[in-house]
Amino acid sequence: MKRYLYHDLIIAGNWCNLKCSYCTSVEDANAFGSNTSASHRRRGATIALADVLDMVDGLRRYVDAPVIKVSGGELFLLANAVELIAELSSRYAHVQVLTNGTEVTPEIVSRLAQLGNVGFNLSLDGHTPEMNAMRWRSHHIGARVTAAFAAMVKECEVLEITSVISDANAPAFPSFLEFLQNKERPIIVVPIPVRGPRADALFSPAVRAGFADLLRGIHRVFADVLCPPAYHSALADFLDVEHGRRRQRCHLANAAIQLFDTGAVTPCPVGWTAEIGNMKKDGPEGVAAQVGVHKMYDLLTRERPRVPVCRNCFSQADIVNLYIEGAIDIAEIARMPLFRAPAAQARLVELKAAARHAA
Ligand SMILES: C[S@@+](CC[C@H](N)C(=O)[O-])C[C@H]1O[C@@H](n2cnc3c(N)ncnc32)[C@H](O)[C@@H]1O
Ligand code: SF4
Repeated sequence: MKRYLYHDLIIAGNWCNLKCSYCTSVEDANAFGSNTSASHRRRGATIALADVLDMVDGLRRYVDAPVIKVSGGELFLLANAVELIAELSSRYAHVQVLTNGTEVTPEIVSRLAQLGNVGFNLSLDGHTPEMNAMRWRSHHIGARVTAAFAAMVKECEVLEITSVISDANAPAFPSFLEFLQNKERPIIVVPIPVRGPRADALFSPAVRAGFADLLRGIHRVFADVLCPPAYHSALADFLDVEHGRRRQRCHLANAAIQLFDTGAVTPCPVGWTAEIGNMKKDGPEGVAAQVGVHKMYDLLTRERPRVPVCRNCFSQADIVNLYIEGAIDIAEIARMPLFRAPAAQARLVELKAAARHAA
């Protein structure tokens, strides 16, 4: 049995109602099969729940993880998304649901909050339409996300926000943090730079340099709404010292695994790389035989990652890397919703010890 930190489940990854300027995920998802578990791609579509849970349980038999992240495309376009999440909540210590917020009603927020171990990661690039210019194409969309945000702030124990940083929101980022301070419930924001083929065009060198400067002092004022300080200094170095070209080793492939509802299994949940096996074609045992040993694992975890998608990648997964490298301690990382469960912290300790042993 392999012991990882989290499973990352993608449901109908090729179906979303937005067309964010930086997003390549919806296009890329087709590389891992277009025959998803969604009944169709119109309003009212449902997830083939039994099939998906079968694959999840198959994975769990061979790769243990206390936590799961689940997303689409946009998961809440699917009418039975809440049922899927409830099923996952009975299988994992914590379930994190990634969403663009457009389809999340206050009722959905209440039902999920009542489960007690489900948290949202809301994609929000700022508190104004201008800051969300790469995501929102109408006031109507902005209003729906704003309502979802308000419901999450009211009901969720902790809300995590991912802000993709680009020319549209970098200069105003401190004003967003100020807006988030002193809300009813704790909020933690993780800024991640645009990655992928549009990274340089959408986040230009001068704006990157300015954002790196801003990051170096940001914790003095906004520590309460930010993830651990070492993350922001590492991100600043990535942007200005490394000029957006990753040199740091990544441990993520040894800590997480991604399952698409098409059956495809991939070793990195951030940069979707290559299928190492397929639950439908190879069965859980066939897939498990590749986990940790397929040649992608070596390429992804080298001192300088050797896979093209790693070159401009810096994401919230680097919080795990910084913990394993000793730059973030367990108390700091435990503030993050994904790592609040004692089982997640125990697994982090175990993974750090394993990485030391392997070094
Ligand atoms: C692919 S989306 C899927 C879930 C959902 N549709 C959403 O937007 O939250 C998952 C996360 O990836 C982020 N993302 C998408 N494209 C990105 C890119 N090129 N660089 C960095 N983050 C990106 C999104 O903003 C979102 O936070
Ligand atoms: S909402 Fe999410 S999946 Fe949809 S286009 Fe935007 S980043 Fe991509």
